[in-house]
Amino acid sequence: MKNEKLSSTVLSETEVPQSRREDVNSDWQRVVRRRSFLKGLSIAGGTVTASALLTVQGKAATLNPGDVAILRFLAAAELIESDLWQQYNELGGVNGGNPAYMLALENLDGDMPQYIADNTDDELSHAAFLNAYLKSKGAEEVNLDNFRTLPSSKATGARQIGRLTNLQRLNVDTSWYTRYRSKMNPDFGATFGQAVNIANQPAIPLNDTDTPPTLQQPVPPTTTQERRMQAIANTAGFHFAYIEQGGASLYTSMSVKVTDLEVLRIVVSIGGVEVNHFGLWHDKAGNAVSQPLAGVTDPETHVTFPDLNSKPFGGEAFQTNLILPEPTDFISKELPPCSVIRPSLTEHAGAVATIVSFANDLLFAGQSQEFFQTVMALATAADAAQRAL
Ligand SMILES: [Fe+2]
Ligand SMILES: [Fe+2]
Repeated sequence: MKNEKLSSTVLSETEVPQSRREDVNSDWQRVVRRRSFLKGLSIAGGTVTASALLTVQGKAATLNPGDVAILRFLAAAELIESDLWQQYNELGGVNGGNPAYMLALENLDGDMPQYIADNTDDELSHAAFLNAYLKSKGAEEVNLDNFRTLPSSKATGARQIGRLTNLQRLNVDTSWYTRYRSKMNPDFGATFGQAVNIANQPAIPLNDTDTPPTLQQPVPPTTTQERRMQAIANTAGFHFAYIEQGGASLYTSMSVKVTDLEVLRIVVSIGGVEVNHFGLWHDKAGNAVSQPLAGVTDPETHVTFPDLNSKPFGGEAFQTNLILPEPTDFISKELPPCSVIRPSLTEHAGAVATIVSFANDLLFAGQSQEFFQTVMALATAADAAQRAL
């Protein structure tokens, strides 16, 4: 694989024990083999830039180096989350600027705009806290401002500023929906199909010609433009849950690598809020695929939100109100099933897996090679951290 240079360069710079270096390197190889997103990127054949390496190492800190790597990756992840949530909030939050998008979101739940605003505040607080904590311990903060280069939506309500993330043509992985209804665990190799096929689909309105901000958004939507806007809002509903289930797994996987008890307190306390977010959005996404809203098709992309409570769906794998995690295989199949966050192993839930998943989501569509190098270097270092007692 051509990425060997990247992995070995990053890991040798972070003073990871040789055996663990090999483990992470092989984890990374496995992730990359399974995925295709790196194919078009020179990251697969390039070296890490000096600035990316500096980003990984930071300055000398009083914390354990592994803890610093974990906190720095989580700070980056929270900056990414903050960026995407701010885009949702500008258009659809409780003080949002796009009335038709807000109405379409309210068709999922009347409180959606309030929840969007609150989730956004949470992410901003996570990013600010993690960076302030790093600084307080003499470690370098994470700053991704140079990568705020992606265009904003042109729809009414969106600020015209550079973005880290792209919400304008997402491939939303909805396998979390069937995964959390299943007794099988991806950490034991289980894979899950898509609950809804959402490909190349915007999650925010793109411009006012496509979806005017004055639409009425009845249930069910009647006009072409109303159907388009509802499909966009439904996509957002599933994307919210996708992002936050990723956060839930990420924080769980990071927690078992932490050394310092105060850092552990930070990781599990923020991670708990990611789980809280996921549970909320899981419930709201179900309203896009149950009556009376189910059945919306986007007239542009043909993405369809079927009724998951009716045939050929329905049953425990799809029923929309089964939002609490089904007990699943955990630790050993010899032990009884347990209701837990899943996955939680580094290979499936760690920092690299998270960035790979976000890239496959097309959340970073249009981003630079340097951006990928920077976040992958941070991710590789975080995954390599080991609890040291
Ligand atoms: Fe967060
Ligand atoms: Fe989050």
